[in-house]
Amino acid sequence: MKNTILSGMRPTGNLHLGNLYGALYNWIKFQEEDYNRFYFVADWHALTTGFEDSKNIPENTIEMVADWLSFGLDPDKDTIFMQSLVKEHAELFLLLSMITPVGWLERVPSYKDQIAQLGKDKTSNYGFLGYPVLMAADIIIYKANMVPVGVDQVAHLEFTREIVRHFNNSVNKEIFVEPQPLLTSSPKILGLDGRKMSKSYNNAIYLSDSEDETNKKLRIMFTDPRRKRRSDPGVAEECGIFMLHKIFTDEDKCNEIKNDCAQAAIGCVECKKLLAENLNKKLSPIREKRKQIVDKKDFIRELIIDGSKKASQFAKKTLEEVQDAIFSSARIK
Ligand code: TRP
Repeated sequence: MKNTILSGMRPTGNLHLGNLYGALYNWIKFQEEDYNRFYFVADWHALTTGFEDSKNIPENTIEMVADWLSFGLDPDKDTIFMQSLVKEHAELFLLLSMITPVGWLERVPSYKDQIAQLGKDKTSNYGFLGYPVLMAADIIIYKANMVPVGVDQVAHLEFTREIVRHFNNSVNKEIFVEPQPLLTSSPKILGLDGRKMSKSYNNAIYLSDSEDETNKKLRIMFTDPRRKRRSDPGVAEECGIFMLHKIFTDEDKCNEIKNDCAQAAIGCVECKKLLAENLNKKLSPIREKRKQIVDKKDFIRELIIDGSKKASQFAKKTLEEVQDAIFSSARIK
């Protein structure tokens, strides 16, 4: 069977380096392979915790898809679509919810984490509890076997595999495929304050940032706390700046920096300056492309609509199989 790769992101607007190099990097890695490829805007997932901000979704979608396209996604090779335009996701979500034990959902690690972070008010809705079921539906409706995501999504994929086994067992048929996560070599990217890079922590560097903004941000970025003075040696591997060097600076230079840091032969200021240069150089053509794309809102809208039609064709086929399996092929249609 042909490999099928699928992933999605909630429409949060501009993407930061953590999104780009923690997940998106793997979205384009297999572009030359003969795989089916589906990438989508998870707008229903955005509603699970942000219903009050729903009016921002259209604009955030355009911004995010502009980032995808400038980073290398190609509507001629990749099917780019929007979850809410492929209603079959909702129908499969409903059917899967009939066999999903509530206890499984309560045990998904992000469930408790998010309640702790966002508070009970924002997370007491039924849709939030069902988040992983909807995500499972997104993936298995295309029979995707490879899912490029950030490390934070691995538990959701484990949940999806459980649902696949449980469903196939329940109908006594191998309808669905168990998907595997596809992680990048730099799954964890730290933000300016040393925590994980995240929009909600306000510690991120964006593709949409100018070179000036990038330089300013890097200047204040947290480094290895061992290096209080210029003469204190540090451990590069534990420094957020070095983690970025690993993406933007060649291997030889990285090794040099690592050794120099351990001997206090390079200072953090100099190290950051070098990173700023390399980072801006690498992002420059991507940023340029973004500038050209982001105002072509109609073009972006249309490609999403076209992609959604293509995705629907796949999704419909699977849903037919699912209904035959549940109700028997004698079902009334
Ligand atoms: N939960 C994912 C995130 O927050 C978004 C998502 C929804 C997704 N459905 C998916 C990712 C299916 C991969 C596959 O990033």
